[in-house]
Amino acid sequence: MNLLQEATEFITSCYQELNRTQIEIDDRISEIAQEIELIGTYSHLAFEIDYGAKVAWRNSNRCIGRLFWDQMTTFDQRHVETEEEIFMAIVEHMNYATNHGRIRPTITIFPPKTKKHHARIWNHQLIRYAGYQTEAGIIGDPSSVEFTEKCIELGWEPKYGKFDILPIVIQVNDNVPKLFELPKSSTLEVEIRHPEFDWFQDLQLKWYGVPLISDMALEIGGLRYTAAPFNGWYMGTEIGARNLADEDRYNMLPQIASCMGIDTKSSISLWKDKALVELNIAVLHSFREDGVSIVDHHTAAQQFKKFEEKESESGRNVTGNWAWLIPPMSPATTHIFHKPYKNDIVKPNYFYQPKPYSKEK
Ligand code: ARG
Repeated sequence: MNLLQEATEFITSCYQELNRTQIEIDDRISEIAQEIELIGTYSHLAFEIDYGAKVAWRNSNRCIGRLFWDQMTTFDQRHVETEEEIFMAIVEHMNYATNHGRIRPTITIFPPKTKKHHARIWNHQLIRYAGYQTEAGIIGDPSSVEFTEKCIELGWEPKYGKFDILPIVIQVNDNVPKLFELPKSSTLEVEIRHPEFDWFQDLQLKWYGVPLISDMALEIGGLRYTAAPFNGWYMGTEIGARNLADEDRYNMLPQIASCMGIDTKSSISLWKDKALVELNIAVLHSFREDGVSIVDHHTAAQQFKKFEEKESESGRNVTGNWAWLIPPMSPATTHIFHKPYKNDIVKPNYFYQPKPYSKEK
């Protein structure tokens, strides 16, 4: 499909959902056709990108949190072009979204990719912990090793801690990317402790409060917003059953099990499962006690059920990626496990884009 066809499709469905008239649709499409004719691209009206960003969330097949798709705040920053201005807008986004723990789903939209302008945020998430490959093994988050090396190459000073927040790396056009250090006041973190096990805090685990994805492209009506960071709040298992538990991440289950005094020699003791449950209890307990928004996977699944019902009432199909929608612990306790989902890609949507720094590329 060419740009005008993509635009026509988006405008038609957007305007129909918003109960606009056929005349408004036709007028807008001919205006866009003229603009494309004249300059080879077009721009969205503010309400169009706001709606497009929300629908892109609604169409995100891997996301269990989609009930809240129409309650997202859009910061329209399409006038912002320099690295410094982009960084300032990022900090504004983080402060608004963090909201002292009462997290608000938010997206900031920078200019779309054109022949003249192209911006990328190199970070996978705006807050992420560094990972260092050393002779004694990896320190920190193994999933950040390659990006951390890039940051060091670009002049960042490594600290060799387990939870060092990485700098923001912003590239405009083919310029050398610029690095920015986030202010401490914008990176809320939660220290993980357990409601009953006093020894748990001695593991000195923590995680950041807000997941802010910054490397995906938002595609609306044929335009690609290559810098459009967005956030929701965490589901506990993302931290407790993956980030801190996966063998190729922080790999904490063996240590937690041994602190619990369970036999880790034999897998039939189910030591991994027992440790996993306590770690996840600790994550939910700590976020809750600190007043930082988080949802457990049972509640999230119920909310997703409500989303499915609301979508069907609106006459829309829910697409989904089953392998991603089921939570990584006790999946069969949720309704999602017990039914199939069609993994069709509907636009607007958020897409992976090639890493600007990767060896593979
Ligand atoms: N799974 C990712 C992480 O653990 C975050 C993905 C987005 N999550 C969300 N709740 N919006 O950091």
